[in-house]
Amino acid sequence: MGRLEPNFEGETVVVTGSASGIGREVATRFGEAGAAVIVADIDSEPKDGDVPTHERIEETGGTAAYVETDVTDRDQLQALVEGAREFGGVDVMINNAGLYIGGSVLGLTPEEFDRVHAVNARGTYFGTQVAALDMIDRGEPGCIINTASISSSYAQFGQVQYDATKGAVRMMTRGSALELAEHDIRVNAVAPGQIATEFVEGWTEEATEKAANDELLKPVPLGRAGHPEDLAGAYLYLASEDASYVTGELLYVDGGWQVT
Ligand SMILES: NC(=O)c1ccc[n+]([C@@H]2O[C@H](COP(=O)([O-])OP(=O)(O)OC[C@H]3O[C@@H](n4cnc5c(N)ncnc54)[C@H](O)[C@@H]3O)[C@@H](O)[C@H]2O)c1
Repeated sequence: MGRLEPNFEGETVVVTGSASGIGREVATRFGEAGAAVIVADIDSEPKDGDVPTHERIEETGGTAAYVETDVTDRDQLQALVEGAREFGGVDVMINNAGLYIGGSVLGLTPEEFDRVHAVNARGTYFGTQVAALDMIDRGEPGCIINTASISSSYAQFGQVQYDATKGAVRMMTRGSALELAEHDIRVNAVAPGQIATEFVEGWTEEATEKAANDELLKPVPLGRAGHPEDLAGAYLYLASEDASYVTGELLYVDGGWQVT
């Protein structure tokens, strides 16, 4: 089967949380497709110790920059979007930065509650807000893509507040799509299933694969964990002209996890 070959030349794509994992692959694929990519993260170093994402894009002839950004801070998000004007202004804003804090309804501390909501929910809300205001101000509508999760719609044991933040991302995607449509700005989300990244400490590739096939847990119909490479194309599609009539959508990329 062939692969789509999107062309994002002349466009500027901001990806939060793109030093590692899913965001890193998404940023790299937009770079390969000709976009100027801004890697926004609290750290430029990938968790696996590989080459930083912006350098990886530049090594293959692409255009990229790293901007240290903590998505819990609206001022930093504002500066990020203003900085993107150097590249012509943000066309695609991808609110992907996320944090996992597990804990049951009986166990989370107030500090843990605030932290997971600050990164996952507040970071997505203000990332959307600053990008949309900048697009409106420049008169150049673009699109916004959030990283949601299967947890946006399905509860899993021991992660009540993580699930709640991703539920919030789902509803922010829908509400923002509704409100920003009049400005010609589309807002969508990708909902990953079980993806082999270093998102959770000790959650190695091997452990993720094992969990995907574990009959005691809910098995993944396609029989394996996903990888960042399985996800990137969904972001490229949602950002493309081919998705010009798609907004408010949550696109599951989960090996069929949510259909059972
Ligand atoms: N891995 C999975 O199975 C899975 C499943 C569903 C959803 N997701 C979502 O995918 C997104 C990416 O996760 P991943 O698996 O690639 O994890 P990851 O840990 O590999 O990458 C997350 C990135 O976000 C960055 N980050 C964390 N806090 C930040 C902050 N305050 N400001 C800016 N950047 C920050 C980290 O430095 C890291 O580079 C998250 O939103 C996560 O909730 C992951």
